[in-house]
Amino acid sequence: MRLAHTSLAITAWLLPSTVVAKFGLTTKGNTLSIDTNAGLVFDINKANGDITSLLYNGMQYQGTSKMSALNSGLGTSTVTAETIGNIIKITVVAKSLPLTHYYVARPDDPTVYMATYITGEVSPGELRWLARLRRSAVPKGWNGDVGVLDGCTAFEGKDTFKCPNGQTRCKMYTSDRFIEDQVHGVTGNNVGIWMIMPGTAYETSSGGPFMRDINSQSGDDQELYWYMNSGHVRTEPWRFGLMGPYAMRFTTGAKPSADLNPSFFSGLNIQGYVPANRRGSTAGFVTGVDPKFQKVVHWYNNASQYWTIASPADGKYTSPLMKPGTYTVKLYRGEFPVAQDTVTITAGNIATKNITSKDPTPSIIWRIGEFDGRPHELKNGDKIERMHPEDVRMGTWGGSYTVGKSTAKEFPMALFAKKGGAATVTFSIANDQVAVETVVRVGTTLSFKGGRPSVKVNNWQGSDPGAPKLIDSRGVTRGAYRGYGEMYTWKVPAGTLKEGTNTLTLGVFGSGDANFLSANYIVDALELQGPKGVDSPS
Ligand SMILES: *[C@@H]1O[C@H](CO)[C@@H](O)[C@H](O)[C@H]1NC(C)=O
Ligand SMILES: *[C@@H]1O[C@H](CO)[C@@H](O)[C@H](O)[C@H]1NC(C)=O
Repeated sequence: MRLAHTSLAITAWLLPSTVVAKFGLTTKGNTLSIDTNAGLVFDINKANGDITSLLYNGMQYQGTSKMSALNSGLGTSTVTAETIGNIIKITVVAKSLPLTHYYVARPDDPTVYMATYITGEVSPGELRWLARLRRSAVPKGWNGDVGVLDGCTAFEGKDTFKCPNGQTRCKMYTSDRFIEDQVHGVTGNNVGIWMIMPGTAYETSSGGPFMRDINSQSGDDQELYWYMNSGHVRTEPWRFGLMGPYAMRFTTGAKPSADLNPSFFSGLNIQGYVPANRRGSTAGFVTGVDPKFQKVVHWYNNASQYWTIASPADGKYTSPLMKPGTYTVKLYRGEFPVAQDTVTITAGNIATKNITSKDPTPSIIWRIGEFDGRPHELKNGDKIERMHPEDVRMGTWGGSYTVGKSTAKEFPMALFAKKGGAATVTFSIANDQVAVETVVRVGTTLSFKGGRPSVKVNNWQGSDPGAPKLIDSRGVTRGAYRGYGEMYTWKVPAGTLKEGTNTLTLGVFGSGDANFLSANYIVDALELQGPKGVDSPS
């Protein structure tokens, strides 16, 4: 013990910025300073709740031009500090927003725990945590260089950039699906700064399991985000209540586990916090989904949302601990809805429910892609989340596909009214398939500016299905593919197909602006339903 004390004292003396480490809260003028006794000391401005200093192992990580805060700062706020047991809790009540934000610290834990309680929509139409960090200290953003703006110039909106080498960048390209996004961060030499969204942290967010939102942007500052809600391809009304708990953790570089248990919040008098003993769950088996797809179960009502992935082996699922209430439950094959039901959750109980896919399995002549709610197997589908359609690394748009010869990678994942041209499908029909009515089915995942499929089979033009419900947000050009998801079918009159070679042309109804901002839609899959012919491939 004596030796240990001696070496601690020497270390503190050698590194003047590491003032003698001790867990605690101090007030200096307008600043609250919290020492976690784990290398992290953070300061909060008592006037507005901004974080103004993030010292970790003696290095300053807080940027200098703008502070770290919710949105772009809450403005005038009432900030109070308490010590409850061995926990420090800072409460920030915004004066002109329907919002209370909490910062919480525990001894020997280099983590800023947070939760944000809202009773209404927060101007300017989104809610996010944004840490503005010193770029030189944490140079690397999330998902490689997709959000790194160095030397690049905005070319679409204010947020989408083109670099001298023809590559594109956008903070939206750093996003991951909420169902997978439990830990993301930015890193530098011997440091990682991480957002952790454990357990049910997304329960009051909106958009469901496949929603994606900005994680980082690397410009003058290194910007590290957690988006709770936004207008980025918004498909649901926002929910109100407690967002989180969530956390910003400092490490010496390694990505931390998502397995962070914020149950100590239950003793802190946090508005909207619902402890485990006031929650229930639901469990059962999923059946009827091809094992090659993820089986996603999603519960939602106007107050909360949850999800889980059923076991690939036997379809067994168990929900997270949910707030009591009646929920819509949806089953997805990947991201494609195949069943819907309701379930009522009561505190302390497990509601059992088996869920079976109700997706019809019609006879098909051919299918391109999979109806899994994602365009990833189609052309450019492997790139679209991380770059703009006109990035130099993208394949060409439009294209021709020959049934029996081509692979899904030859059919474009999106079609644009004014760019890239149509997609054609060439296929062979046997004599015994000519006299029947067939059905063309096209699944889309996202529409922009009213874009929807135009289908032509040989000389027959299918009717315009009309514009789908508008999502007022740029989509495919910012790496988004998930919207409401539409399904279109056309009955193709008997006699339209002829024995031998036939052609289907898929284009776009709709107009919009020029090029990639013209009306467009993203393709999930398409098929021609009808009887198998004698000559058709099995
Ligand atoms: C949410 O749903 C509940 C129960 O159906 C209803 O009483 C309440 O008014 C709804 N709230 C909103 C904001 O729609
Ligand atoms: C649910 O499915 C499981 C597994 O197939 C089965 O053992 C159980 O009896 C089913 N429960 C109900 C209520 O149908």
